[in-house]
Amino acid sequence: MEKMSNFATSLMVWSSLISYAYTVHAMAQWLPRGSSTRFYDFKVQTTRITKLCNSKDMVTINGIFPGPVIYAQEDDRIVVKVTNMTPFNTTIHWHGVRQRRSCWFDGASYITQCPIQAGQTFTYDFALVNQKGTFFWHAHVSWLRATVYGAFVVHPKTGLPYPFNYPFEEHIIILGEYWKQDVVQIERTTAASGGSPPVADAYTINGHPGPNYNCSNNDVYKIDVVPGKTYLLRLISAGLNSENFFAIADHKLTIVEADAEYTKPFTTDRVMLGPGQTINVLVTADQAIGKYSMAMGPYSSAKGAAFQDTLAIAHFKYLGAVTNSVSLPAQLPSVSDNLTVKTVMDGLRSLNPVNIPTEIDTNFFITVGLNVQKCHSKTPKQNCQGINHGVMAASMNNISFIMPKISLLEAYYKKINGSFTEDFPGVPLKFYDFVNGAPNNIPNDTQSLNGTRVKILEYGSRVQLILQNTATVTTENHPIHLHGFSFYVVGYGTGNYNPQAAKFNLVDPPYMNTIGVPVGGWTAIRFVADNPGVWFMHCHLDIHQSWGLGTAFIVKNGKGELETLPPPPADLPRC
Ligand code: C2O
Repeated sequence: MEKMSNFATSLMVWSSLISYAYTVHAMAQWLPRGSSTRFYDFKVQTTRITKLCNSKDMVTINGIFPGPVIYAQEDDRIVVKVTNMTPFNTTIHWHGVRQRRSCWFDGASYITQCPIQAGQTFTYDFALVNQKGTFFWHAHVSWLRATVYGAFVVHPKTGLPYPFNYPFEEHIIILGEYWKQDVVQIERTTAASGGSPPVADAYTINGHPGPNYNCSNNDVYKIDVVPGKTYLLRLISAGLNSENFFAIADHKLTIVEADAEYTKPFTTDRVMLGPGQTINVLVTADQAIGKYSMAMGPYSSAKGAAFQDTLAIAHFKYLGAVTNSVSLPAQLPSVSDNLTVKTVMDGLRSLNPVNIPTEIDTNFFITVGLNVQKCHSKTPKQNCQGINHGVMAASMNNISFIMPKISLLEAYYKKINGSFTEDFPGVPLKFYDFVNGAPNNIPNDTQSLNGTRVKILEYGSRVQLILQNTATVTTENHPIHLHGFSFYVVGYGTGNYNPQAAKFNLVDPPYMNTIGVPVGGWTAIRFVADNPGVWFMHCHLDIHQSWGLGTAFIVKNGKGELETLPPPPADLPRC
């Protein structure tokens, strides 16, 4: 039987290899030598799913939820043929993959490509240059990523050990949010209302809500563990609009990796992940034999904002534990425990020596926050359900990012005018006491400007961004994600950024791709703009992204072929 299925699988692999032979693009020159190529077939399809006593048709990849795991090794080339069998526009983004010289395959809709329309196909083709660890992939169109996501695990090269004792087993833990309703519909209704979206109906761990929710007693994820053994858990936050704490009852978590970069081991009782963050932890089954709960609950830092106040529970079950035994409850911090968040952040230190730019060519100060725009609708009851009967918005430097109609990368590459302007300001247009004296105090100015404004960066420039949270509307922790790069988180603090008082860590800061800008605080990040293309930077809370909390960097080509973005693939979707 097993032989048969192996044979069938290898037949499948071969036939897909053959069919790929003519769809794959000419061998990319940036492909590191000696690596292997991994082929995957992603069929975007609608699948009937029943959860929480409710059935709905939702978008999945290959009918699986969460979607298929991509496994690879450092420096591998990845080829994923995506076929869209749904009526919805889609793209897939490889979150955390730096896409060196392969910006066309970044998957950010309207930034690097037009969406893959119903019935169409696009083949993503990129290499994992010098990257390994826990990543994930997700749809990058509207709110489709609420259901279209999966893990992306990149192992070190053969023969290269982890920088810690080899775990007995590895497990993927994806934190998610689940709505009983169609998410694309929710997004539309929310946008039309001008107000805030409904909170999720449940949190999920690997797609399972666990026993705290209706009809979910058997919809529970479980890890069976052997007493005394150590496990590597790859935690991925694929939530849409919620940041979350995670803990295991009576067990310590030792962080060894964050955003797919090794960290110095840091032991803690709980972690917080914002959407877009990944953390690897080691857990040793060193407690009395029993069934322990793994819990995911809300971190809600915005005052007065609605959130789902429940816990998703999974089981960490020792071999020999009585099957029906009650699980020991995990202790999670209170929903607004900013100190816990800071403590985990303080614990993240690069394991390996860092290569931080010490001189800066381009220094930006970027405010990050919410806005309420004036109501211009003739039917305000329907369309202006935001605070004070306005329309909710969000911005960077008080500019709400409007998605262009064709992809920015295509517009830039083909020199098509009219899609964007190059005047994203390097500093706010107005300075005020961002954290305390926000202009939402009388006179009531919470307005932002709309625009598709980007910033051009010279190839190789050394960039520092100070991201400053504002209290316009309310302060909040915002998980800011940058495409195309990892950045060093050299500093952060509460209050307004003060260059005289700020202390920077230039010795062992973590190298990340998503950073939670502290509630009512600031973060300083640094990177070298040595990857040509158009790179989105946005809040990974999707509602904030929809409201305009983002901008894009255009990194120019440098000199010669190795510093130049190759031309687009022939099958690049059209808008
Ligand atoms: Cu994980 Cu632009 O996204």
